[in-house]
Amino acid sequence: MKALILAGGAGTRLRPITHTSAKQLVPVANKPILFYGVEAMVSAGITEIGVIVGDTRVEVMGALGDGSQFGAKITFIAQGQPLGLAHCVLIAADFLGDDDFVMYLGDNLLEQDLGAFVRAFETARKGAEPPTAQILLKQVPDPHRFGIAELDSSGNVIRLVEKPADPPTDLALVGVYLFDKTINEAVRAIAPSPRGELEITDAIQWLVDQGRRVRCERLTGWWIDTGKLTPLLEANRLLLEVIEPRVDGDVDEASSVDGRVVIEAGAVVRNSSLRGPLVIGRDAHIIDSFVGPFTAIGNGCQVINSEVEHSVIMERSRVIDIPRLEDSLIGKEAEVTRSQKRPRALRLMVGDHCQIDTE
Ligand code: DAU
Repeated sequence: MKALILAGGAGTRLRPITHTSAKQLVPVANKPILFYGVEAMVSAGITEIGVIVGDTRVEVMGALGDGSQFGAKITFIAQGQPLGLAHCVLIAADFLGDDDFVMYLGDNLLEQDLGAFVRAFETARKGAEPPTAQILLKQVPDPHRFGIAELDSSGNVIRLVEKPADPPTDLALVGVYLFDKTINEAVRAIAPSPRGELEITDAIQWLVDQGRRVRCERLTGWWIDTGKLTPLLEANRLLLEVIEPRVDGDVDEASSVDGRVVIEAGAVVRNSSLRGPLVIGRDAHIIDSFVGPFTAIGNGCQVINSEVEHSVIMERSRVIDIPRLEDSLIGKEAEVTRSQKRPRALRLMVGDHCQIDTE
């Protein structure tokens, strides 16, 4: 079994962050989203991983390296343009060969361990009616944003539609799929959708139309497609809720630390109050400040004379003299300051290297 992780595409919904960075590398709980996917594959026992990369390939390849940091062997597959999820399978043909594989969307985060999902497919493949694909479904309140599945009364997949205006069900396709080699035939058989992409939903529909069996499972834990700010902050919240508290940094006696808090080595906390769940990255400085629940402060950041809560601050950014910053995503090496002392809360999405003076 191999894995194909999709980390190309355009991150239009997380602009301005994704003008300069890959959306799959935005950190949640101080770890790039993509790393969770790679780790999920390795813990499901899959170490031969292909990664689709697009315009942000240099950054993605730099972050993942050869995969040895995860105990995996990574092969990068370049996609010239984001022509769709099924196009990714098409261009990965040499890497995939005739093997079964998991396709994992690099911006998805799941609570559930995927080992059981993979094993269920392997077991079913040895059974009387072996499936050619397996999909994972979750009920959602906003089905028009996803690929949607329709099942018959016995729970078999009969129809799949991509982001329908009038959704037939509320069962969304989660971004983890299992395929055997028949999918290679399917992605060659389909035509681009009205939005110009080769849709994986159409390829799976082709399998159904050919009389192939498509198994489905329901996801029990949480699942987040992190492509937008609110779900990204939600993922950050959910992951921080389960971190193991650890203080490796230097906290002075004038500071207080409550709840689940991780303070990485080299971080300095002075005259500040930290109320978890939260994480403070390596070499960050928190001075005369309050850092509240569900906040991830990246490596080398400075938070000085400020209050920050429910936010992700990416590495080496500075937040200075801000009375309250909440529900915000601040890119790398950005600076948020205030020259006039007017108290008010800020909600911001700030790109890498920006300077914001809230005067
Ligand atoms: O998150 C689940 C949903 O993901 C499914 O319900 C939909 O059926 C499926 O089409 C997909 O929809 P999205 O609109 O969320 O897909 P997105 O364009 O965000 O791409 C998902 C990942 O794949 C993302 O990490 C970028 C990458 N990608 C995307 C395209 C279109 C590529 O690497 N190449 C591509 O050509």
